[in-house]
Amino acid sequence: MKFFIDTANLDQIKEAKDFGILDGVTTNPSLMAKEGISGAKNIESHYKAICEIVDGDVSAEVISTDYQGIIDEGEYLATLAPNIVVKVPMIKDGIKAISYFTSKGIRTNCTLVFSSGQAILAAKAGATYLSPFIGRVDDITWDGMALIADIAEIYAIQGYETEILAASVRNAKHIVDAARSGADIVTCPLSSILGLLKHPLTEIGLAKFLADHAKANG
Ligand code: E4P
Repeated sequence: MKFFIDTANLDQIKEAKDFGILDGVTTNPSLMAKEGISGAKNIESHYKAICEIVDGDVSAEVISTDYQGIIDEGEYLATLAPNIVVKVPMIKDGIKAISYFTSKGIRTNCTLVFSSGQAILAAKAGATYLSPFIGRVDDITWDGMALIADIAEIYAIQGYETEILAASVRNAKHIVDAARSGADIVTCPLSSILGLLKHPLTEIGLAKFLADHAKANG
């Protein structure tokens, strides 16, 4: 399973890269706004800055919701860097645009996915990545991980090539469960990735090893 970081924060992207486990980045309009990035020129240079840090794919989301607007925005975003993936919402014009982008060789990430039916449509349209939002599904007391497992089963049966990118990850357990449920990629905050490190027995064990070494070596 690949690890993407779900942020537009350059310091966190650099930290994840330095950690040695980073395969890509996802952003969305809320994450860009959180970093105070606004205005077409600033947004463009921020995407370029992210793409200079990361070798892997970087999802850049369109704001338009009509077919022509999505096409115009997506074609422009795709010119910013070779590793840009155009993120398109799961709406009728979005699916139509994903079909168009697929025919033009522009890679896409279909976002705001909450059902297996939506996942089938995105795969039929040729989306490169599919982003089911597991945290937001859990938030309404449905089962985000069951959704990942169902989509993974359907994609395997049908031989769809769209990769399942588990999104809206809230904690380290989501990462482990996504791996078990068949996600190809998980995109998460840096805190969830670092959460995978934590185990009290590791901390106790390391403290004892160091104490024993110090005792023996003065
Ligand atoms: C990433 O592709 C999604 O936009 C993101 O994971 C959504 O996360 P949230 O539900 O925590 O906002």
